[in-house]
This record gives sequence, C-alpha cells and structure tokens, in this order.
Amino acid sequence: MANQLRVGFIGAGGMAREHAKGLRVMNDVVIAAVTDVVRDRAAALAATLGAATYDTPEQMLRDAGLDAVYILLPPFAHGEAERAALAARLPFFVEKPVGLDLGLSRELAREVEYSGLLTCAGYMNRHRKSVNRARDLLSADPAVLVHGGWIGGSPKPGPDYSIVHWWIQKDKSGGQFHEQVTHTIDLLRYLCGEAEEVFAYSAAGFNRDIPGYTIDDAAVVNIKLRSGGVANLMACTASNADGGVWLNVYAGKTAFKFTGWEHTLTIKRAGGDGEEIAGEPDIFAVEDRIFLDAVRSGDRSGIRSTYPDAVKTLEISVAASQSIASGKPVHLTN
Ligand SMILES: NC(=O)c1ccc[n+]([C@@H]2O[C@H](COP(=O)([O-])OP(=O)(O)OC[C@H]3O[C@@H](n4cnc5c(N)ncnc54)[C@H](O)[C@@H]3O)[C@@H](O)[C@H]2O)c1
Repeated sequence: MANQLRVGFIGAGGMAREHAKGLRVMNDVVIAAVTDVVRDRAAALAATLGAATYDTPEQMLRDAGLDAVYILLPPFAHGEAERAALAARLPFFVEKPVGLDLGLSRELAREVEYSGLLTCAGYMNRHRKSVNRARDLLSADPAVLVHGGWIGGSPKPGPDYSIVHWWIQKDKSGGQFHEQVTHTIDLLRYLCGEAEEVFAYSAAGFNRDIPGYTIDDAAVVNIKLRSGGVANLMACTASNADGGVWLNVYAGKTAFKFTGWEHTLTIKRAGGDGEEIAGEPDIFAVEDRIFLDAVRSGDRSGIRSTYPDAVKTLEISVAASQSIASGKPVHLTN
C-alpha cells in the first residue's frame, strides 16, 4: 500500500459531498475516482476533487488502483456496487441503511463474512463518546424501557424535487422509519441488545399534494428485546410546528437522554450525580478516519459497525414495514 490511500466513490450525491469534506483534508488520503449513474454528477464532483470518473463501479474498481471504496447510494440502488467490491476484494464503507431488499442484503452479508472482507457501515453514532459511555453503563444496569425517534416536517418541493426524489417513494427509500430512524434502531441494538419481535402501525393521508409521495406520514413501532426490555420508536414527516431527534433509555438505576442529531447525552442517576456529554459535530470525519486507519493497518478493532451487523438493523425496519402491511407482530428469526 502506497503512502496515500486511494479511495473511490460510488454515488456522487449529498453523502459523497459530506464524506469528501472530511477526506480531502486528510494528508494521507486521496479521492482518486468517482462513478454515478448520472454521469454529469460524477464529473462535477470529480472536478472539485481532481479525481477521474468511470462509467460503472466494475470499471472503476478494475482500473483505478484503489485501496478502498465508499458506497454512497440510496437504499434501492444496492447490489452491483457491493458485488464489485467483493469481486475486487476491496474494503468498503457503505452508507446506512445498507439496502432495501433484505434477501439481497443477507446474501451479501454471507459473502462478506465468507470472504473476510473489511467493511464499515455508516452508523456513525456508534462512534460517539456519549453512546459508548451509555453502552458501558447499560452493560451493568440493563434498559427496561426505550423511547425514541425522528419527527420532522412535510417534505417540500425544492431543487431536489424537480424530479421525484427517491426519499418520498416507499419502494425506493423504504420510508422514513427505514431510512432515517434506522439510526435509532441501530442504537437500540448497540445499547440494549437484539430484538425478538416487532409490531407497528402507520399514519397516512395527512401530507397531501406532494407529487410522487408514497411513504407513510408517521409510524409507531413497538419492539420486544431479547433481554426482556421493551422499546417504542417512531417516525413522523408531517409535523410542521415541532419535532426533533431523541432517544431516552430508562434502566433501574440510570436514565439516559440523547437529544438532537449530535446525540448529546444527559445521564441521571437515582440519588446521585448526573453527567453531560456533548455530541461531536464532525462525526462523519471521525468514522471515516476509523475506517481508513483500519484499511491501512488491517486492525479492525476500532470499527463499531460492519456490513453483516448493519443487516441486522435492516431486519428490524423491514419487519416494521411487514407488520404495518399485515397488522400483525413479526417475530425475528436471527
Ligand atoms: N449517515 C447519515 O446520517 C446519512 C445522512 C444522509 C443520507 N444518508 C444515506 O446515504 C445514502 C445516500 O444518500 P444521499 O443523500 O447521498 O443521496 P443522493 O440522492 O444525494 O445521492 C445518491 C447518488 O447515487 C446515485 N446513484 C443511484 N443509483 C446508483 C447506482 N446504481 N450506481 C451509481 N450511482 C447511483 C444518484 O445518481 C445520486 O447521485 C442513503 O442511503 C442515505 O440514507 C446517510
């Protein structure tokens, strides 16, 4: 491996620009190649980075001489990129949620495990100090009840909606619970262990006159944990007066309140002192550094979220969709 790590991007949208911000100030990393199904988008990003563009992921991974690849695609667009990385035996970073088709994602997870390929999924909150402090304390004082979610306003037509954006289409994004609350589902697993059963309801028909809109306006999802604890997570994209991101975890002796995108944490103890831990504003750069250090050294111990693990988070949001459709609880098999 040369002094500079050569990285390629599959997907040149919002998250490509976000990761590029952190990577381009790292002296030992160069973004050497970009590909996107919309060629102009790949070319525009590549021009700002001095990178080469390629027509397809296969071509890029074959010809660009890369050390690692970033897969920065919408949920519906996965498969080809991961297969190209597996075929080239190239470590990959993949944004969350890692897919939409659970069968395909499970198959890819098996291939990743079989090949031993180094992967990192974009559940960046697992790298926060606040989250890891809570995880340590919860290992001795387990959660009884968890409550959290993401509440936001109605999607607004804007530059991104001049064509119908994938986010508002259920068959492309999986809906807000799958695409956004996936962060909270993942933290539930990271802090409190695996889930056993999922039962969900949704609301629809409140957001009107948004062309192409097929996602739910809101969802409430009850989750039974293997530990015996219970959780209620929710999504809403139709609340225009108030909202936010939060996660409250209640254990016998301690309560944890995460607030905002940065997951700033307040810890309360029964009859004792509290604690405050601010969330890191630059968490994408933190996870990028951890992934790329692992690529360079081969030491994976800093990586908190792998592709196969992220597929277990996917199973919960897919189960929520199934429960909404059937009106019945879904028992998780893994
Ligand atoms: N970690 C986070 O907090 C966070 C925040 C926002 C988005 N995301 C996730 O990142 C992923 C990408 O989101 P985004 O905001 O960058 O979306 P985006 O729409 O801005 O960009 C996606 C890009 O992928 C391209 N694309 C689609 N199919 C492709 C294919 N088969 N091959 C190559 N390129 C293809 C599109 O043309 C587009 O340029 C999504 O899964 C999203 O959920 C994560």
